[in-house]
Amino acid sequence: MALSVKESPLRYSYAKVNLHLKIRGVRPDGFHDLFSLFHLIDLHDDITVQTIDDGNGYLSIEGMPFLPATQNLMGRASRLFLRSINRETDSVHMTIIKRIPLKGGLGGGSSNAATVLLTLNELYDYPLNTDVLLDLAVQIGSDVPFFIHKCPAAVVEGRGEIVRPVPARDDLHALIVIPVGEGISTADAFAVLDRLQNKDISIKRLYEYSTVCHMYRQPVTQWSFSNDFKDVVVVFDEVYQSIYEIGEANRHLYTTVSGSGSSCVFVSDSGPIEINRLDFTEEERTHVINIKTILLNKA
Ligand code: C5P
Repeated sequence: MALSVKESPLRYSYAKVNLHLKIRGVRPDGFHDLFSLFHLIDLHDDITVQTIDDGNGYLSIEGMPFLPATQNLMGRASRLFLRSINRETDSVHMTIIKRIPLKGGLGGGSSNAATVLLTLNELYDYPLNTDVLLDLAVQIGSDVPFFIHKCPAAVVEGRGEIVRPVPARDDLHALIVIPVGEGISTADAFAVLDRLQNKDISIKRLYEYSTVCHMYRQPVTQWSFSNDFKDVVVVFDEVYQSIYEIGEANRHLYTTVSGSGSSCVFVSDSGPIEINRLDFTEEERTHVINIKTILLNKA
């Protein structure tokens, strides 16, 4: 009998930034409860997925030779999906053109995993509903459910499974600045955060969904969003302090860190941000990658 081979068209797998990120404490399962404003940006990896019912259960990923399929979240997503529809003996071949930097706090791996879940569901003619996909997503990582929702902006809570879309603006530009180096692992960043933070999180100023939506609509100069990891990343590299100072000196910008680092993000509502106009020294500029982008207002 002829094998059934299905192949998806090319899919964009977008990155995100966190405009606001508060950690509310440690849960009984060891993970942290978060409260965050996620926003898609116009930076994406390109993914294709092919499935073959050949009985081999073979998994391959072309385009990321530096990360074996077994450690890649695309591989994890594909295994979890096939297991939940009892098709573990089908083979999956994926290709990726990688643009989103690794360990940047831009959600690249999580976005790729969500793209694989959504694309496999489409190739198999929608055997799983959104609730089941979200359940698989949170097993892969805290950022994955946001990308399953396919909304440009959302308040994300819990371990990442509570996602409440926020109507997105169309006037936001960003410049992402990433110190060159190893990046910061999420687990290491959480460990430092636990050391630095007062365990009594009840004294923390926490926002409601409605407060975030209201503030997001204000000029960026009035945003009092923040990220708990701003104090953490300086422990890993003091260059962050200079980057924050550059942001503070440019009062028309909102400056933050995305996720648990290693990206710093400048946001403007008055046009694109040119790195040459910011006060980086020659030395600093050679030690950072910079990406000029926009915050998306549709997914
Ligand atoms: O979600 P992700 O796979 O990126 O998480 C990596 C690690 O970061 C986890 O294994 C855990 O140690 C920590 N983490 C956490 N609470 C979260 C998300 C991540 O403690 N909500």
